Amino acid sequence: MTHDYVEDELSRQSVFKAEQLLSIDYVPETLPHREPELRTLAQSFKTLISSPGRTSQKFIIEGPVGTGKTAVTKRFADQMVKAATRRGIRLHKLHINCRVSKSTYLVYLRMLREFKPRFPRRGHSPEEILQMVIEVLDEEDRYLLLILDELDYFIRQRGADILYDLTRLTDDQLNAPQRLSVIGVGRKIPLDETILDQSTLSTLQRNILRFNQYASIALYDILKGRVDTAFEQDTVMDETLQLICDIASERGDARYAIELLWRAGKQADSTDSRKVIPDYARKAKADTHPELRKEVFAALPRQNMLLLLAAARQLKVNRGAYITMGELEEMYHPICEEYNEEPRAHTQIWEWVQDLNAHGLLDTKRSGAGQRGQTTLIGLSDVPAEMLEQHLLDLLT
Ligand SMILES: Nc1ncnc2c1ncn2[C@@H]1O[C@H](COP(=O)(O)OP(=O)(O)OP(=O)(O)O)[C@@H](O)[C@H]1O
Ligand SMILES: [Mg+2]
Repeated sequence: MTHDYVEDELSRQSVFKAEQLLSIDYVPETLPHREPELRTLAQSFKTLISSPGRTSQKFIIEGPVGTGKTAVTKRFADQMVKAATRRGIRLHKLHINCRVSKSTYLVYLRMLREFKPRFPRRGHSPEEILQMVIEVLDEEDRYLLLILDELDYFIRQRGADILYDLTRLTDDQLNAPQRLSVIGVGRKIPLDETILDQSTLSTLQRNILRFNQYASIALYDILKGRVDTAFEQDTVMDETLQLICDIASERGDARYAIELLWRAGKQADSTDSRKVIPDYARKAKADTHPELRKEVFAALPRQNMLLLLAAARQLKVNRGAYITMGELEEMYHPICEEYNEEPRAHTQIWEWVQDLNAHGLLDTKRSGAGQRGQTTLIGLSDVPAEMLEQHLLDLLT
């Protein structure tokens, strides 16, 4: 008799009850330890609903990785829209990830398409598109709460004009209803007079909300919520949870904590264990790095991944802290061949290196005027070369 592998898999027991609740874009109903932040937002934005059109709000949310910025803004925007709808106010929320909508044009187009889904992609300037957004809002008596997530990445690439445009837009029309409010979200958003005019600057500086790293106890409460909903009862040992919180509290990063929990669960499943023991958390820690963020890699084009793979490989081979552009390209060509891609020219590669740098995946610096002359040196941020290589190999298959 042949072995039935499918039946085998299907009858396999799992420690998970609802594994999808551990995925990165899942936003739980309650967000422990972020009540004060949610309350601050509600207080600041309530006028959008209590007296629609009277004012618009501009807010900045800043904080280290995995501190709940995205989750909180999503949950908050959701509650705003619900409250508005109950009162017959046509408030929309739009969450834009600026790593995906990488230019002002693409951001404005996303905004317009929220109301005109089939609006063609070409033929208009960014300014025209933005103007059309305002017109649609006016014509249809709508309001928009715009969330520009990963805005720091966007500003590093494109400058801060978008903030100026969006802020000035509503200031310009004094007596017209104010229809657009904005929340900019990022790790560290550069707000200074070198990139912003004084009035935009002072508006934004008054409205900055900072998220702090989670302490171990906070991470425990956050994880406990996921354990109760995503895992079968009594599968995750309390000691395992404690250990994960201790590991992740070094960075105060809830995403990393959740990833460790998920991986520890996977480990239990793959060894047919009904208990998630602390050792699985240790194994999980060894298998992943907090800088390997899924959503960053998901937005990365294949060609850029190949270039990153070349950097990782060359750095592994060299065993040094940095490689040169030349060394990078030397490794890039055979990798393209391996993956059946046409290698791109130097100028394009240069741009991608800048882009990977802005993503925080590569670290670049100018060499001192030494034996190599003036050249750009490329290193990795935090992730060990071998781990990055493995991660990319998994993604590229
Ligand atoms: N207070 C919380 N309660 C429950 N889950 C949380 C909480 N804070 C964060 N999380 C979860 O942790 C993960 C990371 O949170 P989030 O994506 O909001 O972080 P972030 O601050 O946006 O990080 P980044 O700077 O990397 O974008 C998400 O899965 C989120 O649902
Ligand atoms: Mg985020």
